[in-house]
This record gives sequence, C-alpha cells and structure tokens, in this order.
Amino acid sequence: CGIVGYVGPQPALEVVVNGLARLEYRGYDSAGIAVLSDGRLETEKRAGKLANLRAALDQAPRAADGIGIGHTRWATHGAPNDVNAHPHTDGDNRVAVIHNGIIENFAPLRLELEERGCKFTSETDTEVSAHLLSQELKAQGDTPDLAAAMRAVCRRLEGAFTLVAMSVDDPELVVAARRNSPLVVGRGEGENFLASDVAAFIAHTRDAIELGQDQVVELRRDSVTVTDYDGNPADVREFHVDWDASAAEKSGYDYFMLKEIVEQPQAVADTLLGRVGVDGTLTLDEMRLAPSELREIEKIVIIACGTSYHAGLIAKYAIEHWCRIPCEVEVASEFRYRDPILDRQTMVIAISQSGESMDTLMAVRYAREQRARVLAICNVNGSTIPRESDGVLYTHAGPEVGVAATKTFLTQLVACYLVGLYLAQVRSLKFGDEINAVIAQLANMPAQVERVLATVGPVRELAHSLADSGTVLFLGRHVGYPVALEGALKLKELAYMHAEAFAAGELKHGPIALIEEGLPVVVVVPSREGRGVIHDKIVSNIQEIRARGARTIVIAEEGDETVRPFADELIEIPAVPTLLQPLVATIPMQVFACELALAKGNDVDQPRNLAKSVTVE
Ligand code: G6P
Repeated sequence: CGIVGYVGPQPALEVVVNGLARLEYRGYDSAGIAVLSDGRLETEKRAGKLANLRAALDQAPRAADGIGIGHTRWATHGAPNDVNAHPHTDGDNRVAVIHNGIIENFAPLRLELEERGCKFTSETDTEVSAHLLSQELKAQGDTPDLAAAMRAVCRRLEGAFTLVAMSVDDPELVVAARRNSPLVVGRGEGENFLASDVAAFIAHTRDAIELGQDQVVELRRDSVTVTDYDGNPADVREFHVDWDASAAEKSGYDYFMLKEIVEQPQAVADTLLGRVGVDGTLTLDEMRLAPSELREIEKIVIIACGTSYHAGLIAKYAIEHWCRIPCEVEVASEFRYRDPILDRQTMVIAISQSGESMDTLMAVRYAREQRARVLAICNVNGSTIPRESDGVLYTHAGPEVGVAATKTFLTQLVACYLVGLYLAQVRSLKFGDEINAVIAQLANMPAQVERVLATVGPVRELAHSLADSGTVLFLGRHVGYPVALEGALKLKELAYMHAEAFAAGELKHGPIALIEEGLPVVVVVPSREGRGVIHDKIVSNIQEIRARGARTIVIAEEGDETVRPFADELIEIPAVPTLLQPLVATIPMQVFACELALAKGNDVDQPRNLAKSVTVE
C-alpha cells in the first residue's frame, strides 16, 4: 500500500493526493485521504483507482488546515470497496488512521472493543487501531498525547504494520509507527512529509530519514521526533535521494513500463558503473563481505519472489559454472518453512527490487538467525532488506514505477553476474581467463541491449496478432528456461492470459499433450557458443511441437539459420555468450507482453490485483 502524510504551509490536500499519485503503483484497489478542515476531521475515500478519489474531491472541495494523510490500498482484509478504504476513524471522528500491513491479532482486539461498546463500520483490521487510539486518548483526559497513545497501541498490536494517525486534539501533528512495513520521512523547510517511499515527496525534498523497526515518529512543521515504542529517543539514518522527480515521470511515454523498457541499456550501464576496472578487476565495496569471508562460503542459497526469483534461477547457472559453489534457488515464501540447512559457510543472496517484499524479508531474518551471511541485491536505497542484511549490492536502475518489473530484472541479472564473477576472482579459480573474458563481454552488454531494442519492432505487430489467443506456452533450456518463465509471468501479469513455461526437455513428459493446431509457443533458443548440444536439442523440440500444429515463435541469435525452417515467427537477438543471453532474450518477451496487454486495452502500469511491493506475507 502507499502512504502519505504532510504537515506544512502548502495546501495539504493537494500535497497528499499528488503524493499518492506517485505511490499508486504500490496498490490501487482504493484510495482515501483525511484532512483537518476548520478543526474538523474530514475523510474521503473511494474504491478503485486514485482518479475516483480525485473526482469525489472535485465534487466536494474542501479547505485543509495544512495537515493531511492519504492512502492507496492493496486489499488484505475486506473487499476493496469505499467502506474498507483507508483512512479509518473512531466512532467520534476524533482520530483518523491509515495502515499498511496486517494486524494479526485484530480479531480478539475487535471483540474486546465491541464489548466495550465500539461500533465498527468496516471489515478491516485497521479500524481496530483507530478505536484503540481513541480509547487511549480518552484515558489521557485533558492532556491528550497522540504519540503516547500510538506507542501504547503499538505495544498491543501483533503483525507487520505501518500506522499513520492524526487527531483533532493536535491539529499540527501527524504521528506514525513502523514495524516491518516501510516508512520514510521527508524533511522540508517548515514542512515535513511521511511516506512509504521517497517517490511521494521527491518533488518537495530529497532529504530523507529512514525509520527503523518499532519506531514512532512525531511530525510537525518544524520538527521530526523519533522514539521507540517506550518513548526513548531512537537513532535514525538521514540520507539524500540521488534521483529527482523527473526520473519518476513518464516523460512523454503513455506508460511507465514503455519508458522503463527503453531505459534498460542505461540501467544496465549504471549497474556496471564503477564496478568494473579497466583491467577487469571488480570492485564491489558495498558488499561489506571481506574476501576472506567469501573464501569460506561452501554453499549459496538465493531467495526471492516473482520476477526477482527468475533472476535468481538464472544466477544459479552462472554462479555454479563460474565459482563451482553449489547454489540453490527458492521462492522466499517457501524457504523458511521447510527447515532449510544453513550455517556460517552458507551465503544467502536475497534478491528484491523494492527491498520490502515481506516474504523475502522474513526469509532474510530467518537466514541470519541461522548464522548464514546474507547479501541483498536491491534497487531501493535504504530499504529494509539491505538494512537487515550483512551486505548489499544496489542495482542502480533508478525508480521503477510500472508494476511489472523490467529494467530492474535486467539489472538484477547484472548484479548477480557481478557477484558470481567477483566470487570467482576472490577465490582465484583456475579459470581466470574465462572469467576475464566474461567480464569484458558483460561490460559490452549495454550496447547489446540497445541493439535488441532497436530491432524489436516486429514483436509489437506479432503481439497484436495474438491478442485473441487463449493460451501461450513458453519453452527454454538452460538459462533460456528461466527466461521462458519470466516471459510467461509477464504475460499473466499484464495481459491476464494463461501462459505457462516449461523446460523444453520436460515437454515430452507431459506438457506436449497441450499442443494443438495454432497454439502459440514461444521458444528461447540458447546461444550456439559453447552450448552446441543444448542448442541442437531445442531445435529438435521446436520440430516436435511444430509437427503437432503449434505456431512457433522462436527467439534465436542472429545468423542462426538452423532454426529458420521451423520458425513461424523468428525474433533475432544479438549473439552473446550463453550465460549472458537472458539480458537480451528477455526484452522481446517484455515487449510482447506489454503490447499484447495494450492491444487488449489493459493498463500495463497497474495490472489488476497486483501491487509493486507486497509488504504482507
Ligand atoms: C510483486 C510484484 C512483482 C515482483 C515481486 C517481488 O509481486 O508485483 O513484479 O517481482 O513482488 O518484488 P521485489 O521487490 O521483492 O523484487
């Protein structure tokens, strides 16, 4: 969910709603705001996208007293309707609360409050916190203290949450609390901001403060006070955001996703920047793991969700090949529940664009409890996962607003390659020449990515011609298999189509029964370099499906004439080493899914039911 809070001289409603617009990618089931207007608490909330809230606000304009909070929701408890949208208030309209996360013990708390006469109007877990805050304020008598009330309430709540509250008792104060779910403060001149990420206030200030676990912040025009849940002053980290508002704007594109696809050559270059020396030596300082520690590693476990998980699957091929260290990959939500075997000699790599996915965060915490060394690969500076890991490698892709990951996926791959190559270097493996050659080829990848983008035009027409297909299958071998998985995921996310990916060799063990006349099947053909056997095997697989009527859409390197006779559609990509091929092979899939979704009239930036960063388990 997206959260915004503001205290200052500007029209609060405008600041909050504009902030929400920049966070809408975090959830867009419903949206709402609360402001003080002539000392009265006023809320407005609407199901659906922010546009619905804006329309409601236009119909009933109101003045705001320089203080406001707002929320865009990704529903957990209760359907995404007007009533369940945030903010929630207590029965007396004294406090308004917005919330991100899940209050796990809400059921007994609700029962207790109902027994005490509180009337609930929504099905949400959040409403409990509004009533609890109100009760605390009442108990404080003539000297209500919202921050103290918040601390008391937080001590009673279980689960992951960020809570933001304001009250008619103190019209110049916004109070927020953080446990697990993200929250940052933006510091302005005579005004301050709160948000679930910096994008919300980047147009006003680039000076930010990261809140830690279990902290409460009091935001006034001229002060920001942070304490722990017991009221003791807390340590915070201030940081300066290194991108500006224009990086998170569409800049003439109809959708962020289209812009982010085009930004990929630059994003890949930025992730490499400063890390590859002229002689091929890699410098990964922020990794904070000493070479001596890296030499002790006996096993690597990669944990991630969604697209980041696919980056992990590809990393496994590269790391095992270059470093000869066994490497497992697992979806983060499964990892800690199966009693995995970890120790000090295990390096866990947590890949997360946002650095906030709760599944991945919980897996990181578990891994650290088991004494594993944890390295985060992340795109968002200062987010929770890198903060809680032993080391980090940032991907420097810049802000990604489209919900479906594109440029951050490519940069995650680059970061994984860097980690693999660096491990190989510090462990001084005998394949030094091969490693150096790969590093040189990796440094050349921004140009190759640029070339794919220049030639991807026909994929758009192809996508439009397939808009009415019910199912699309994807096949790959070796690193082409995770690329196929990513291609299928993109199509599900954006075009809401049934899309499945298989390892091409598995086809004959079952999925081939799905093939029927005209079924589109996208096949990723591996590079010919060094992998001749797999290449030839997949060419046979293409023939097998074509013989059964499939419409074959083949992604192969340019000049690969062996596949041409069996390809109904041939999409050519530059010839690059096999392990690096996902950097170029993924792009046609992104464009394909994006165009197909646009042909169906879908919003590719905000696909239904999804959120960019999922901060619940
Ligand atoms: C959500 C997004 C996906 C993303 C996944 C992991 O489900 O919709 O696009 O891949 O989270 O996100 P992370 O920020 O951890 O990479």
